[in-house]
Amino acid sequence: MTQHLLKAEIHCHIEGAAPPSVTEKQARKYGVDTSAFLQDGAYQWRDFSEFLVAYDAVAALFRTEEDYALLTEAYLSELAAINTIYSEIIVSPDHGDRIGLGADAYLAGICDGILAAKEKTGIEARIIVTGERHFGPERVISAAEYAARAKNPLVTGFNMAGEERMGRVADYARAFDIARDAGLGLTIHAGEVCGPFSVTDALDLVKPARIGHGVRAIEDEALVARLAELGTVLEVCPGSNIALGVFADFDSHPLKRLKAAGVKVCINSDDPPFFATSLAREYEIAAQAMGMSDAEINQMTRTALEAAFVDDGTKAGLL
Ligand code: HPA
Ligand code: ZN
Repeated sequence: MTQHLLKAEIHCHIEGAAPPSVTEKQARKYGVDTSAFLQDGAYQWRDFSEFLVAYDAVAALFRTEEDYALLTEAYLSELAAINTIYSEIIVSPDHGDRIGLGADAYLAGICDGILAAKEKTGIEARIIVTGERHFGPERVISAAEYAARAKNPLVTGFNMAGEERMGRVADYARAFDIARDAGLGLTIHAGEVCGPFSVTDALDLVKPARIGHGVRAIEDEALVARLAELGTVLEVCPGSNIALGVFADFDSHPLKRLKAAGVKVCINSDDPPFFATSLAREYEIAAQAMGMSDAEINQMTRTALEAAFVDDGTKAGLL
């Protein structure tokens, strides 16, 4: 059992954490038909493209600052209840813009949720602003500019999520230059849907401290060695990978092989109810399905905390 272990995660998308019951409630509130992406209490999608469509549809049901505050507080409180001390939430101002809420109110709601959860449970959380690759380079650059301008103490990182097959990293590199110049921590989704070339592009052009997923680096031995040498942290999300068919099963999932090769790895929930998972389940998968010891799991939690985009004083208190 991993219930007693301290936990941390640095890769969870805020709208991706919305439980189906909450999404249904939002849909009733706004009179929206959800049958295209939500049936029998479960999100419906058949592949990565459909997952992204469902994700954007769910995001469009959170429309006020309060909607986002409640979603964020509920998610973090659930994490705190399973001994999670730190969480980094991936948020995309574009989703706020798209439903007319606006990026400022979107971010303010999420910040309110973080502060409320911290007050009630003590859980520490930070925000990673993300650009959505399938919204195109212009939008991703705007997201980086927004994050750089925000000067919000809870916004500590920049990411790019979304359709990995759209364009090449080079098309989006300027967004990361803007975020880097603003002092934000950098991470990028790569090597999830696309193969090793996507991780190589990320390392060459973005030089991120961390990579979201990165697991398909396992297909290239030299790339695995490069990740180990650089100390790049992979934010691994095993349940997400299996649900999306990136790997057939937990036996063939490369988490343990990457760790054994000296790559820094940690475990994360990504979009938990979309992938029938939770951070608690990811820890259980590491223990039961992958046979990792408490010491190995604690090491991954420590890696997440060491790689966290948080000020040194707060980090010292967490470690
Ligand atoms: N990959 C890419 N984009 C995403 C994901 C993911 O796992 N979750 C939400 N947006
Ligand atoms: Zn993700």
